[in-house]
Amino acid sequence: MKVILYMGITPNGYIAKPDGDSEWTSEEDLKGFYEQSKKAGNIIMGKNTFNYVVKQEMFPFPDALNVVVSHEAIENTWGEKVLILNKSPKEVLVVLKEKGFQSAFLAGGGQLNASFMKEGLVDEMYLDVEPLIFGQGIKLFADNDFELELELLDVKKMNSNTVQLHYKVLK
Ligand SMILES: NC(=O)c1ccc[n+]([C@@H]2O[C@H](COP(=O)([O-])OP(=O)(O)OC[C@H]3O[C@@H](n4cnc5c(N)ncnc54)[C@H](OP(=O)(O)O)[C@@H]3O)[C@@H](O)[C@H]2O)c1
Repeated sequence: MKVILYMGITPNGYIAKPDGDSEWTSEEDLKGFYEQSKKAGNIIMGKNTFNYVVKQEMFPFPDALNVVVSHEAIENTWGEKVLILNKSPKEVLVVLKEKGFQSAFLAGGGQLNASFMKEGLVDEMYLDVEPLIFGQGIKLFADNDFELELELLDVKKMNSNTVQLHYKVLK
């Protein structure tokens, strides 16, 4: 199972402002995000990201099985397009594999990203570096104990101010 992480980030590695705001990423970032999630057919997110996108009326994301990972018993009022799992990252991937998916799309936030990295489960990362910088917020990876080398697969200019870094995670 190939795991792909896709995030819009600031040059100093934040994915959201302290209040959770991530509305500052570009149209191209959103487009790439939707394309990749559609390609995988699924989208995995942590509870805080879920709460944020529900508030923004963006949930559930179209064309993909939306998988929410939480220890909380969240009621599923959305039906078959949504799966709410109280499971570890590895167990989440087993569920997706059993459902016939060949790849998994990891969509944040920082805590869930770090948990997947710590277990060495991420294979590729797309990072859209946006032209905004702020000094406090939610990090791409919450503090955790991991170190992984990367291979740069591609660099793409998405618009006049946004660069996409595409990495392979070496294992
Ligand atoms: N810029 C971007 O591209 C982008 C993309 C996605 C999200 N975001 C932003 O990221 C922010 C949320 O990030 P976040 O770091 O605060 O939270 P998060 O990773 O979205 O969610 C963390 C929560 O997920 C649950 N969880 C269950 N199993 C977990 C595990 N193994 N590891 C980690 N978490 C697990 C926990 O809730 P329980 O206590 O219920 O278990 C945990 O508190 C939002 O503000 C969103 O806007 C930005």
